[in-house]
Amino acid sequence: MTDRRAFLKFLAASPLLAGIPSIEKVLAETTSLQTVDNMIGSAAEALDVFDFERAAHKAIPPAHWGYMATGVDGDETLRANREAYSRYQLRTRRFVDVSKIDMSIDLFGTKFNSPIFMCPVGGQKAFYPEAEVAVARAAKDQGHLQILSTVTSSAVEDVIEARGGPIWFQLYAAMSFDITTKLVQRAEAAGCPVVAVTVDLPAGRNTETATRLRRSDTRTCTDCHSPTGSARSSRPMYNGIDTKGMATNSPSLTWDFIKHLKDVTKMKVLIKGLDTREDAALALEHGADGIIVSNHGGRATETGRATLDALPEVAQEVRGRIPVFVDGGVRRGTDVVKALALGATAVGIGRPYIWGLGAFGQPGVDRVLEILNNELRLAMVGCGARSLAEITASSIVRRT
Ligand SMILES: Cc1cc2nc3c(=O)[nH]c(=O)nc-3n(C[C@H](O)[C@H](O)[C@H](O)COP(=O)(O)O)c2cc1C
Repeated sequence: MTDRRAFLKFLAASPLLAGIPSIEKVLAETTSLQTVDNMIGSAAEALDVFDFERAAHKAIPPAHWGYMATGVDGDETLRANREAYSRYQLRTRRFVDVSKIDMSIDLFGTKFNSPIFMCPVGGQKAFYPEAEVAVARAAKDQGHLQILSTVTSSAVEDVIEARGGPIWFQLYAAMSFDITTKLVQRAEAAGCPVVAVTVDLPAGRNTETATRLRRSDTRTCTDCHSPTGSARSSRPMYNGIDTKGMATNSPSLTWDFIKHLKDVTKMKVLIKGLDTREDAALALEHGADGIIVSNHGGRATETGRATLDALPEVAQEVRGRIPVFVDGGVRRGTDVVKALALGATAVGIGRPYIWGLGAFGQPGVDRVLEILNNELRLAMVGCGARSLAEITASSIVRRT
């Protein structure tokens, strides 16, 4: 293919043939063939995470794809998250001995091989039957942190067994504190050392793209989804809990909730979904053990700021007293360097590992992690940063 393209380009450039429409046409056709060729047939063929996006799009039914891909309203926050990374460039350093690069990180006393963690994503059976368990096996193989959603489609005990070590639990607080307590205590008993309370969806949202794609799906949803009852309450984490009348969003939650939560668990408590210095200060005041700067991957508040743009003010407010994590739009190892340089302790990915999972199951997730880690390693080499601590504000510059 490459030879054919090179030959056609040579012909097109020839003064004798320049401008002859048939050559242009053949070149255009070759370009589209090239695109088709980019559809990978196995995880090993992937060169970047976007290869998995295409493969997963092909493999996942439209309604499920819509659930994953959607933002809210016109998807502006979703796009902002990604675009923010292109506003920064790396500052290279030379003649540093970069023969050994250490990407490991200690989080609350546990060592992970990489600062890239896998964000909580609900209902992963929508993407691949082995779901969160397949993700846990990949996390185990490569020593990554995995955070499990409250609305996981696999039970926390099964996921921890597959991980062969602790995972963190993400909490959607129920209106009833009794239900919340049961969820949290089950996660703690299963072995989770950390709970991340998600606070960016207090009262519903308008996932317009998901609704459009659902309309284009001709399958009968009730073949798999229960026609009655809330999808959330039928998930494994609610087994054994009386969920009759359970309200799944909690619009009346206030900062006191953090104290109540700390009273019923010994787990470290993170707050997921903050993006201002004011809330960072309040989080510290109320005893949070960490913050995840997140806008739910552009799925919560529309026309919000990119998380990368919000990160510096949160990090400046926190001044290293507790870890500050960030997620949203991370698709390259260079993005990880940029986020760490702006004050993040570690960096979360959501959709990229779901693309890997949806396309190929565990081998897909394995390869997504491998690609991002390889890219991160090369970016650290370029910046002369031998460890994560050596990634500093001077590792990047804002585009002029
Ligand atoms: C399909 C999907 C489901 C999600 N489910 C949850 C969830 O159950 N709990 C939660 O706190 N965040 C959830 N998130 C948000 C992610 O944890 C994370 O914040 C986001 O995906 C990061 O952005 P990215 O997808 O651009 O990497 C979900 C995101 C997606 C795409």
